[in-house]
Amino acid sequence: MMKICCIGAGYVGGPTMAVIALKCPSVEVTVVDISISRINAWNSDQLPIYEPGLEDVVKQCRGKNLFFSTNVEKHVYEADIIFVSVNTPTKTRGLGAGKAADLTYWESAARMIADVAKSDKIVVEKSTVPVKTAEAIEKILAHNSKGICFQILSNPEFLAEGTAIQDLLNPDRVLIGGRETPNGQKAVKALKDVYAQWVPLERIITTNLWSAELSKLAANAFLAQRISSVNAMSALCEATGADVQEVSYAVGKDSRIGPKFLNASVGFGGSCFQKDILNLIYICECNGLKEVACYWKQVIKLNDYQKSRFVNRVVSSMFNTVSGKKIAVLGFAFKKNTGDTRETPAIDVCKGLLGDKASLSIYDPQVTEDQIQRDLWMNKFDWDHPIHLQPASPTSIKHVSVAWDPYQAAKDAHGLCILTDWDEFKKLDYEKIYKSMQKPAFVFDGRNVVDVARLREIGFILYSIGKPLDPWLKDMPALA
Ligand code: NAI
Repeated sequence: MMKICCIGAGYVGGPTMAVIALKCPSVEVTVVDISISRINAWNSDQLPIYEPGLEDVVKQCRGKNLFFSTNVEKHVYEADIIFVSVNTPTKTRGLGAGKAADLTYWESAARMIADVAKSDKIVVEKSTVPVKTAEAIEKILAHNSKGICFQILSNPEFLAEGTAIQDLLNPDRVLIGGRETPNGQKAVKALKDVYAQWVPLERIITTNLWSAELSKLAANAFLAQRISSVNAMSALCEATGADVQEVSYAVGKDSRIGPKFLNASVGFGGSCFQKDILNLIYICECNGLKEVACYWKQVIKLNDYQKSRFVNRVVSSMFNTVSGKKIAVLGFAFKKNTGDTRETPAIDVCKGLLGDKASLSIYDPQVTEDQIQRDLWMNKFDWDHPIHLQPASPTSIKHVSVAWDPYQAAKDAHGLCILTDWDEFKKLDYEKIYKSMQKPAFVFDGRNVVDVARLREIGFILYSIGKPLDPWLKDMPALA
């Protein structure tokens, strides 16, 4: 029986391996992690991450051909194919701080593989890594290999949180990069055979190692750029009276552009987009490509601008101050159907409002109070893009409470900000919310989820990103 081991039981390692186990019953899949609590959660009824459909898949395979373990060395030793899906965050100190990928976790995993392995292995880069990482990993493995043959493959993951299981079951493409040597190609074929159990062959793309590594960074950069492009348009729409949803629809009808990923919002978040673009920028700079680096930097600057523009709109609309006012925040995760808050725009918006001394009451159906408090305590790392929003101080943290339902969050609030596109926010009883709020009652919709005409009819002063402004807001120009 072929054995697969995945190092890293996170948002990628867990769901990816669960689907491989589901689709390849003859393969034994073990996901290992140094985090005991994470592995315990994977082995319990309360999985460590929320992802629609994940629980079903795990329940079908766990204990049969899918295992979760903290015994990292044992399973690496036994495996034929080792996926490495550890975190690769942005470096916070030293050379390249604030931009380069921190490969500490990757390097330690590679060294451990080199120490433990006693037979030939295929090592698969699942984490998103800088171009040429495979070369560094090869050096680490070769240096310690004791005559063992290691083949490195790049197999970046394109799943999106919130739709991970669907994306894994029915991927647009699977990308496998390998060395163009006979052994390299043999390893590519071995991995291709795994995916071919359920992915049509024409969707399995094989390339050289560097193309595969760079394609992942490029794909995330293009996706984030699309969001920043439509968000840039949203500012212009507000200034001119155009409606960003109408503009997006008209633009997306062009088959060369397509309709997806054209929703204006308070900004993109998630663990990947910013990290991967920063990484891309760093690689460009290291290769002397200053103009290319500047081009991609602008995608992040625009995202920062969109978040601070939102905060400014809230403050300026509410008579230029939110000091002492209760603001209800609906949604804290970086998007719907996930409990992940990494780089969520809600953090910057909340910190911005706290900076103006607002009292926040936050509701999110999947994010715990602990997580929210931790996120608002942490300092965002510094780099050379302007930080418009000050980190929250310990005193301002006292002004944060977490509510268990949206109505409780909104009670007696002066304003309500919608920061995540959870479906349930579309269906709330806004009449009830209006009645329980202070007047004039403001709604700031950072995701364009509410029915504009309906809310204005109820009596709200409503701001929706990129939509024609409420007459009230027109008279209150956004702060510079
Ligand atoms: P994560 O932080 O959720 O999971 C990483 C796991 O690796 C953690 O549980 C950590 O304890 C474990 N780990 C770290 N070093 C280890 C070691 N030496 N031995 C054993 N376990 C170790 O990260 P996530 O979100 O799963 O991301 C993993 C990689 O996949 C990153 O490079 C990310 O950029 C990439 N990626 C993430 C996507 C996402 O939507 N989250 C999508 C596509 C790629």
